[in-house]
Amino acid sequence: MDNKCSCQGCDVADLSSSYELLSGIIAKYKDREGSLIQVLHAAQSVFGYLPFEVQRQIAEGLDMPLSEVSGVVSFYSFFSTQPKGKHTIRVCLGTACYVRGGKKVLERLQELLGIDVGDTTDDRVFTLEVARCIGSCGLAPAMMIDDTVYKQVNPEKLSAILSPYYKDSGKEAEA
Ligand code: FES
Repeated sequence: MDNKCSCQGCDVADLSSSYELLSGIIAKYKDREGSLIQVLHAAQSVFGYLPFEVQRQIAEGLDMPLSEVSGVVSFYSFFSTQPKGKHTIRVCLGTACYVRGGKKVLERLQELLGIDVGDTTDDRVFTLEVARCIGSCGLAPAMMIDDTVYKQVNPEKLSAILSPYYKDSGKEAEA
């Protein structure tokens, strides 16, 4: 079996050790009632997301139907079945931000990154998401990258905002 992850830019260098960790997590929680969510959380922190094979192994290990595991994964937004980028951008589309140009900010980001909402760039630097309000309505439109809030953003500022994140990831900006 090839132990290397085939995802482009994947940080999971050795999948066999990740699956060993997963087996340990499952063994730890196996006999605890209602432990599925804790196992999923732990698995997501190991793999970065919850691909089908991980869900299948959890279902088998906890002796429950795969459909139940998949149902919980798709119900909670904090679980992801797609690999995430190193940085997560959340563009606020709450009312204050929307009326002050949040949608244009989002459209420009989609253009710059070449991805849609919910997707991750091929180089795995950014995942693009939307938010409903991030508590900066007075300085709308706002967006976040990881835990940093950017206020009064406009489409022209975006390249400069993204640039340090590319540098931090050792990548060149796409545009
Ligand atoms: S609506 Fe965007 S920060 Fe509140």
